[in-house]
Amino acid sequence: MTSNNHVSEEKWWKRSVIYQIYPRSFCDGNGDGIGDLEGIISKLDYLEQLGVDAIWLSPVCRSPQDDNGYDISDYQDIDPMFGTLEDMDRLIAEAKKRSIRIIMDLVLNHSSDEHPWFLEARKSRENPYHDYYVWRDGTPEMPPNEMRAAFGGSAWEWEPQVQQYYFHQFSVKQPDLNWENPKLRREIYDMINWWIARGVGGFRLDVIDQIAKEPDQGITSNGPRLHEYLQELSRETFQKADLVTVGEAWGATPELAMRYSNPDQSELSMVFQFEHICLDQMEGKEKWDLAPLPFLKFKEVFNRWQTKLHGTGWNSLFWNNHDLPRIVSRWGNDSQYRVESAKMLAILLHGMQGTPYIYQGEELGMTNVRCPIEAYQDIETRNLYRERLEQGYGEAEVMESIYAKSRDNARTPMQWSNEANAGFTTGEPWLSVNPNYHEINARSQVEDADSVFHCYRRLIRLRKEYRVFAEGDFRMLLKEDAAVFAYTRNSREGQLLVVCNFYGKDADCAIREPWDSMELLAGNYKEPLQLLPEGGISLRPYEARMYWKESGKACQ
Ligand code: GLC
Ligand code: CA
Repeated sequence: MTSNNHVSEEKWWKRSVIYQIYPRSFCDGNGDGIGDLEGIISKLDYLEQLGVDAIWLSPVCRSPQDDNGYDISDYQDIDPMFGTLEDMDRLIAEAKKRSIRIIMDLVLNHSSDEHPWFLEARKSRENPYHDYYVWRDGTPEMPPNEMRAAFGGSAWEWEPQVQQYYFHQFSVKQPDLNWENPKLRREIYDMINWWIARGVGGFRLDVIDQIAKEPDQGITSNGPRLHEYLQELSRETFQKADLVTVGEAWGATPELAMRYSNPDQSELSMVFQFEHICLDQMEGKEKWDLAPLPFLKFKEVFNRWQTKLHGTGWNSLFWNNHDLPRIVSRWGNDSQYRVESAKMLAILLHGMQGTPYIYQGEELGMTNVRCPIEAYQDIETRNLYRERLEQGYGEAEVMESIYAKSRDNARTPMQWSNEANAGFTTGEPWLSVNPNYHEINARSQVEDADSVFHCYRRLIRLRKEYRVFAEGDFRMLLKEDAAVFAYTRNSREGQLLVVCNFYGKDADCAIREPWDSMELLAGNYKEPLQLLPEGGISLRPYEARMYWKESGKACQ
């Protein structure tokens, strides 16, 4: 009965915008150089001004920090580095006062090797916790198979005490949990319900498509029992409250996403899919093997996801997160046209159907960094550097890959002001701040009505004012145009039109519209639109415009 009610009412997260915080890099409240909950609380007014509806917090639970918190040793406590459970309760309450919900990061594919479950599990094969993890027989010289871990090396680690290997898809300190064990699943559900009772507004589920692994068959993502597990998980936890849930699913296709985000709510609200994100790498290779973005393919990918999920599921919309390089450096221009291109990328994405996610600093147009290798802290980057040099790659080439794709690009501290350390900390920051904070920082952008910040703020507000963002269909225009990304969204009330020049050169295109009678909702140039004498328009470098045409006017 309750679930029927849930289906008919409009979901709050369909008109929401979610802001991701990477806690260690957001704001340091106590001067130890590491961001914390106190720091986040002190910036809630800023987030309220931006207008976001929810904050997704990357993990803050107790953790040895081998992978910056994605290796959890106690799911029901806060890491002392970030604060206490009381601070967390205060964050939830203070955010609520500003109508902001707190979304937690659930890392359910693996735990830390320092989690009490694993400490027990590795003691003996008879231990009741042994089966919470994935073990296989072998000899120290002969792992069960050739599977590799995402952060390099074998996916199997020998444990002398039990004379077996344990399976880890990420680092050796992140042993995979065995979802086949019903007791483990029950413990996970109880833990999630405990957080729901504390008042959290939803969850982001880390690498959720990898929980149903079948290592004997070499299967990591999309294992045969995945959707069975997800449905049980959802039934036992999420469906009991009005939550948003978003699963990280690198292997999702639109067809799979329709299952994950089925409007009957049997699994999740939506997934993060990465098809657009993986386009600028050599086919069949890794993200480090750089390739230019194939623009027509990129448009085709968005077109497919937007049209297939319309009415059948729900999209997430994002350019950035804590694992990805900064979008303005990646697909915009972080020098001459930094402001224009950051706004263009925002307008392009925020006009689509789905729930937009903004990663901290994206709303300022923060950029990538280039550091000497010693300055990088990320485990993936460090391992990659070592591994590729061993394999004979040249140092310069490896560094180019790191500059382009290292996760630390996203993890440099948030740039609050032009004070020391960008106002992030009064101490020594755990990762150096990007030296461009004098030019790029929140304080100056909040004061400047023309800033990237205010462009994001406007886009967030528009999503609440116009139903077309949540409801309209999607039609890609100029599919074959090599520089322009343009589309319409139609709903009962009218039509939204978005036209963007994706590159730094002028671009002419043949779109003919009653430009003067339409309302300009957002744009990145003050000058009027340039009309071509023969019809059509000419867009300046990275020029982007979002127009609205009300239904009555549409057929005049
Ligand atoms: C996800 C997280 C990433 C983490 C990995 C292992 O991809 O986003 O930061 O390293 O899972 O938990
Ligand atoms: Ca701190």
